[in-house]
Amino acid sequence: MEAIAAVRLLEETARVAPVAPTGLARLHDAHALLGEDIARVEASLLAATADGCSPATDAAAHLLTSGGKRVRPLCVLLGALACGRITDEARALAAVAEMIHLATLLHDDVIDDADERRGRPAAGRVFGNAVSVLAGDSLLVHALERTSRVERPETLRELFATLRRLVDGEVIQLRGRTRLDATEETYASILDGKTASLFRWALRAGARAGGGSTADIDALGAFGGHLGVAFQLVDDALDYTGGQLGKDLHADLREGKVTLPLILAAQREPDLYEALERVRAGAPRPGEHERLVAAGARAAGEVRERAWAESRRALDELTAVVDSPARALLGAVARELVGRLS
Ligand code: FPP
Ligand code: MG
Repeated sequence: MEAIAAVRLLEETARVAPVAPTGLARLHDAHALLGEDIARVEASLLAATADGCSPATDAAAHLLTSGGKRVRPLCVLLGALACGRITDEARALAAVAEMIHLATLLHDDVIDDADERRGRPAAGRVFGNAVSVLAGDSLLVHALERTSRVERPETLRELFATLRRLVDGEVIQLRGRTRLDATEETYASILDGKTASLFRWALRAGARAGGGSTADIDALGAFGGHLGVAFQLVDDALDYTGGQLGKDLHADLREGKVTLPLILAAQREPDLYEALERVRAGAPRPGEHERLVAAGARAAGEVRERAWAESRRALDELTAVVDSPARALLGAVARELVGRLS
């Protein structure tokens, strides 16, 4: 990282840290606190991907073993610990959060006709789209079975509502392929559906499993919602500025997705809407694609600011939860995920 960027990151981190670090304030430290639990969740994920019929099991294992940050299970575990302790229920739900995430990625890569995921060929390219969809279905069923087994009706009910939001978010985004909709309202509803909803569920489910009060569950759920929005804003900015491991640059524009960098750019230069229509119709004038990409990259700075603002909102929610190493680590998740942009 360049010196100036590092200084800026430190300044931003200090500015967004109303929760005082308590010695375990870096994501890197999560293993010291949760190593054993993370290993058990990982083993449970491996078992779930193997439980079913080949080749769907092979496609699920292909994605699982391609890497991934495992942020959602971490959120469940830390949410539980911040409210009391990590229970068997929390460990089961941590695996559920990742299974749902993996299922959505298997389906998403078919919808987006993606070549790569996490630096490897997408499961659909290796096993075919039909197998990929069924692998996602299989993980979804495992996730629902496991959630029903923990016997927390609210957690299962909230999972159904989350799945509904995930599907709706993806459908609203898909609608944008045929009809240009470059409004911030539509973008916000897509973000809430396709990303924030699962983070919110992960934190609420973890907090409940750890014995949290209603106030704890609500505060951590709100933290998760803001974290999810910040996370997606960062992803959408990086699509224009580069730096995402295993992801193609400008994939969003290619897939017909109008994300915040382009929405803000078109607000500043309204003739970009027409260029956008032509690029999406596959009939751009010379240099128009490059112009859109450059305008999106210029607007990425403002998207970054919004991601930090969302991260600050997330950290504000944490102040309602009693101070602990787990709370400090949740703060680190919020800071370091946005720090990817610096
Ligand atoms: C990735 O977005 C996609 C999601 C976060 C959600 C996808 C949701 C669905 C396919 C619907 C629900 C599915 C199930 C199984 C309930 P992206 O394409 O912007 O990110 P990417 O660049 O990582 O592909
Ligand atoms: Mg995609």
